[in-house]
Order: sequence, then C-alpha cells, then structure tokens
Amino acid sequence: MADKDIDELSGIETTGHEWDGIKELDNPLPRWWLWIFYATIVWSIVYMVLMPAWPAPPGVEGYTTGLTNNSERVNVARDMETLQASRSDFYARLESAGSYEAIEADPALFRFALAAGDSAFGNFCSTCHGAGAQGFVGYPNLNDDDWLWGGSFDDIRHTLVVGIRADHPDTRLSIMPAYGRDGLLSNEQIEDVTDFLLRISGGEGFDSAAASRGAELFGQQCASCHMLDGRGDPSQGAPNLTDNIWLYGGSAEQIAATIWRGPYGVMPAWEGRLDDPTITALATYVYSLGGGQPPVQTDGAAGE
Ligand code: HEC
Ligand code: HEC
Repeated sequence: MADKDIDELSGIETTGHEWDGIKELDNPLPRWWLWIFYATIVWSIVYMVLMPAWPAPPGVEGYTTGLTNNSERVNVARDMETLQASRSDFYARLESAGSYEAIEADPALFRFALAAGDSAFGNFCSTCHGAGAQGFVGYPNLNDDDWLWGGSFDDIRHTLVVGIRADHPDTRLSIMPAYGRDGLLSNEQIEDVTDFLLRISGGEGFDSAAASRGAELFGQQCASCHMLDGRGDPSQGAPNLTDNIWLYGGSAEQIAATIWRGPYGVMPAWEGRLDDPTITALATYVYSLGGGQPPVQTDGAAGE
C-alpha cells in the first residue's frame, strides 16, 4: 500500500473508504474487546469438546456427545431414579401401615401421605370433586362430615378401591328406583313425598296435608333405604334426607326431579388404576379434609 491516506485532523490512517467527504479512520479495536472476543472462541472450542454440540450430518442419527457425555435426558432419568428411591421407602411404609392411626403416629410418613394425596387428588379427583374437594351438583363435597358411604378412613379407602356403581366386581352398589320414569309413583305422589322431605329437612313452602300423605308413602317406598326417620343408611349409600344438605339440589323441583329419574352417581374404582400406597395416601388426604368420623356414627348424609 504505497498511497497511505492520513487523516489531516486526527493524524490517524484511514481505511481509504470515503462517503461524501467523510472518511473512515482505521483505529485498532479496543484491547478489552479483543480479549473477550478471543476468550469466546476458546470457550466455544472447549465447550464443543466437552459437551454435546454438533448434529450428525443429514441422514445420520445422533450428534457429537462430547467428552462429558452430558445429556438432559440422562440427567432427568437420574433425577427420577433418585426421586423414586426416596419415595419407595415411604411407599413401602404406607403399604404396611394399615390404619390411619399408624400413619398419623409417624409424622414424616403422615406429611408424605398428605402431600402425595394432595398431588394425586389434583391429578385424578379434582375434575369431578373440585380443586378444593368442595364438590358440585351430583359430585359430593369431601370437606365435611357428611358421607354417603361412610366417613371412616377404612370406609373412604374402600370407596376408592371399589368405586361406586363402577366396573369393579365388588363395587359399592345400590340403585334407587326411578319412581316417575318407571311409573312406580304418580306425579301427585312424588309431589306429596317431596313435601314430606321438605318438612323433615326444615325446608319451606310445603303443603302440610300433602306432606302427611307423603309420610305414609315414604314409610312404604323409601324407608328400606333411607330409614323410617329419613336419616339414611351408609351401608346402602342412601343419604340422610333430613339434614338439608342436597347432592342433587334442594328446591322442591330439584327434589321431585331426583325422585322422578332415580339418582345414579358413578364414581370410578381406582384399584388397578392407582397403586395401593397412592390409594392409601389419597384416603389419608380425604379423611384429613373432612372425616374424623368413626364408622359407627356415620349418618350417611348426602355426601355434601
Ligand atoms: C368421574 C367423576 C369422579 C372422579 C374422577 C372421582 N370421583 Fe369420587 N365420586 C364421584 C361421584 C359421582 C360420587 C358420588 C357417588 C354417589 O352418589 O354415590 C363420588 C363419591 C366419592 C366418595 C364417597 C363420598 C361419600 O360421601 O361417601 C369419595 C370418598 C370420593 N368420591 C373420593 C374420590 C377420590 C379420592 C377421587 C380421586 C382418586 C375421586 N373421588 C374421583 C365422582 C368422581
Ligand atoms: C334401594 C334403596 C333406595 C330406595 C328404596 C330409595 N332411595 Fe333415595 N336414594 C338412594 C341412594 C343410594 C341415593 C344416592 C344416590 C346417588 O348418590 O346417586 C338416594 C338419593 C335420594 C335423594 C337425593 C338426595 C340428595 O342429597 O340430593 C332423594 C331426594 C331421595 N333419594 C329420595 C327418595 C325417596 C323419596 C324415596 C322413596 C320414594 C327413595 N329415595 C327411595 C337409595 C334409595
């Protein structure tokens, strides 16, 4: 380069580029910038040698694995193994615990059961029973002391194992007749018995004469399951009809509709779908929400 062009003003050599009289000075790059630049090159080479970096050429499976053989897939698998190992001890203890008292007596196990039950509840139960187990029409609230099929730990666990009107051979099963649809009672009779239910549950707007006629019908048609006093029978899943807690709604129309069509709540059986310790954890969780009920005292209320 014979014809070096020196900028007059600054005395610095130019690159020879010029736009409309503006010249580009040929200043060297700052040192610090250069060092960082070289460092990134060195870093990238070290990284490529140690870590997975290059995909295989088209048509070939895989990639360069690097000297460390690091892979997120392997890491996740290893983490899962560690998690399983840490759980399996608790799972074995849950499986052998047998009773709520035994689980509760072991604080670490109890905490684990509640946490595992809570998370399994979110996965498998909240779609029907609600995220807070508060229930919906037709899907019982599990937070309270009212149970269709009994609220002891063993009752709840058994309900989970065999389901209700489910496909399990030992499923909890009792079928209230569809009194209206199947022509067992006339609409007038259903209205009478509805008025009777409003009376015994503390409802309003019933006709006393109709309620008395309904009482007689109730004794004949309904007491075998709901008991003469209407307080229900958890061994048949027949709810307490006196507590003004209604699974299918408590207005006169809703009660009459329930009697007309015959309620038929279905709860899946979880045996075979969930393993034993998970079912125990779920029963512990549900029992801790609302239970506290010894089996003898269950009054089989409408599960709400
Ligand atoms: C497909 C909807 C559905 C799912 C999912 C479901 N349930 Fe239920 N469950 C029901 C219905 C409906 C009933 C009430 C059945 C009846 O009317 O007899 C019920 C009843 C129950 C009962 C008995 C309540 C009582 O009063 O005796 C318990 C306990 C229970 N469910 C717990 C669970 C748990 C724990 C899970 C998750 C593993 C779960 N359910 C998942 C629909 C469901
Ligand atoms: C064979 C036993 C049986 C007989 C008989 C029976 N019930 Fe029921 N009843 C049940 C069961 C079981 C349930 C709960 C069903 C469910 O949850 O799906 C129920 C639920 C109800 C409910 C819904 C309660 C709520 O919380 O919403 C009403 C109302 C009711 N029965 C009224 C009657 C009346 C009135 C008669 C008589 C005319 C009668 N039942 C006869 C078993 C019976």
